[in-house]
Amino acid sequence: MAEVTLDVRHLPKEEAYALIETQLDGVLEGIHDEIAVMATISCLLHHGFGHLWTGFYRVVEPGALLRVGPYQGSLGCLAIAFGRGVCGTAAAERRTVVVPDVEAFPGHIACDGRARSEIVVPVTGADGSLLAVLDLDSDELGTFDETDRIALERMVTRFFSAVRPPAEARTA
Ligand code: SME
Repeated sequence: MAEVTLDVRHLPKEEAYALIETQLDGVLEGIHDEIAVMATISCLLHHGFGHLWTGFYRVVEPGALLRVGPYQGSLGCLAIAFGRGVCGTAAAERRTVVVPDVEAFPGHIACDGRARSEIVVPVTGADGSLLAVLDLDSDELGTFDETDRIALERMVTRFFSAVRPPAEARTA
């Protein structure tokens, strides 16, 4: 496979996301395994935009606890309670949270002290319940805006058809 991760930083955001989504559709054709989808989205977004951290926190105790999932970047915190930090707020309220300056967000969790701005998008699974949140962190202020929110919310609709594979399929 001659696929490479594209650097889309030179493009306007809408075009950058469109290109990444086209590649995502190609790479994930026929793949519905939710972990494979999380890993591939993390990889393409992270290398496409060069963020500090890009990845997922999975709901492991509904309404209570998020656990780190597939991600790229510096070491992430392993667990986040619902209602704590930006991720926990997005999970508890099931809404996208855009933070232009993390120092102005009460309770922000600094897994990496270089983080300056952040966006967290809730991920809904096939059964309509909250599956995870998608978290992007930048080392610059004000990186994320409405364009990111719309594109990332569209991107995570792929999880509407994602499934947790049965145990016997996981080794294939
Ligand atoms: N900043 C996040 C924590 C996760 S990491 O930055 C990878 C938060 O406040 O929820």
